[in-house]
Amino acid sequence: MDRNENVNITLIGAGTIGLSFAAFHLAHLPSPSQLTIYDTRPDLARYIQETLPNFYSGKDISSTILKINVVSSLEDAVRNATIIQESGPENLDIKRKLWAQVEYHAPKDSLLWTSTSGIPASHQSRDMSDKTRLLVVHPYNPPHIMPLLELVPSPSTSDTVIQRTKAFWESHHRTPIHIKRETTGFVANRLAFALLREAIHLVSEGVVSVSELDKIVENSMGPRWAVAGPFKSYHAGGGAAGLEGFFGNIGQTVQNCWDDAGQVNVGEGWEKGVFDMAKDEYGTVDTEERDRITRRILQVIQEEKMGKVYGDVEPSSS
Ligand SMILES: NC(=O)c1ccc[n+]([C@@H]2O[C@H](COP(=O)([O-])OP(=O)(O)OC[C@H]3O[C@@H](n4cnc5c(N)ncnc54)[C@H](O)[C@@H]3O)[C@@H](O)[C@H]2O)c1
Ligand SMILES: *[C@@H]1O[C@H](CO)[C@@H](O)[C@H](O)[C@H]1NC(C)=O
Repeated sequence: MDRNENVNITLIGAGTIGLSFAAFHLAHLPSPSQLTIYDTRPDLARYIQETLPNFYSGKDISSTILKINVVSSLEDAVRNATIIQESGPENLDIKRKLWAQVEYHAPKDSLLWTSTSGIPASHQSRDMSDKTRLLVVHPYNPPHIMPLLELVPSPSTSDTVIQRTKAFWESHHRTPIHIKRETTGFVANRLAFALLREAIHLVSEGVVSVSELDKIVENSMGPRWAVAGPFKSYHAGGGAAGLEGFFGNIGQTVQNCWDDAGQVNVGEGWEKGVFDMAKDEYGTVDTEERDRITRRILQVIQEEKMGKVYGDVEPSSS
């Protein structure tokens, strides 16, 4: 799929993730009429008119939005689609039913992607007659800004589907990563939640407050990991001897931290204290500020590493 002239993209589910994908695709499709949105919400068209501009810092894009194909029938939504991405509720029964219907009505070679954060494709595809078609394409919120897409096939997903999907996102200067097994929570969230567990442990032990912990991350590994991931970072940290040198130098400290890591679990009583601290400190987080700064960080990285910025989310000429 080199350019997008003949691509019709259908988004099923227009919540947080679906509308963010809509913002992404509007920036890349030659015409907004190549984007179809289906959702079971009443008053869908008005909801999209009101909500989608939030992804453009409130900029007036109403004439673009009017050209999006907004439909209330699943069959109409998928009939002429080349790519179908489902971002409906995180509910196995709903997704199973959707895929059986989508498969029935969609063109035979359309790509079928689910945004699920944790329901494996092998579970969702149970009632499909061709289970080779479904692929998890897990975005990192918000996908109109974040480059990562975790591609998580079921054991039945065909390699062709994986390769076509990879090619699509790479041609849009995104970073699709093929996750080889249907591991719980995939990879990005597993890493984030491992850190979250230790963060909760340290806060509930009174070592630091919620805001102090955030400051520590924002002023150290946050910016570093945007430039080089943990392996590259510690490989550099070990000097000429690389990662091996790093473990030679402070391997014992690493092991001591692992030994001491908190095994906190959901529902064990730390919740109220930590939740209250977060609420008192932050109230409602300004996601517009978050997105604006994140976009600038990613632009700098693209410019430095590729000599060009690709992260634009303005709708293309329409
Ligand atoms: N929010 C995140 O950070 C995040 C990140 C990555 C992946 N995901 C995944 O993306 C999916 C959507 O998450 P979200 O946060 O956007 O949820 P959301 O609740 O904001 O949106 C879900 C949308 O689906 C619609 N819907 C309900 N039933 C439907 C049906 N039968 N058919 C079509 N649409 C229906 C709802 O009206 C709503 O607009 C989930 O599978 C979630 O796990 C979420
Ligand atoms: C299906 O999509 C193609 C490519 O965008 C378009 O040329 C064609 O008119 C569409 N057909 C229908 C029936 O909508």
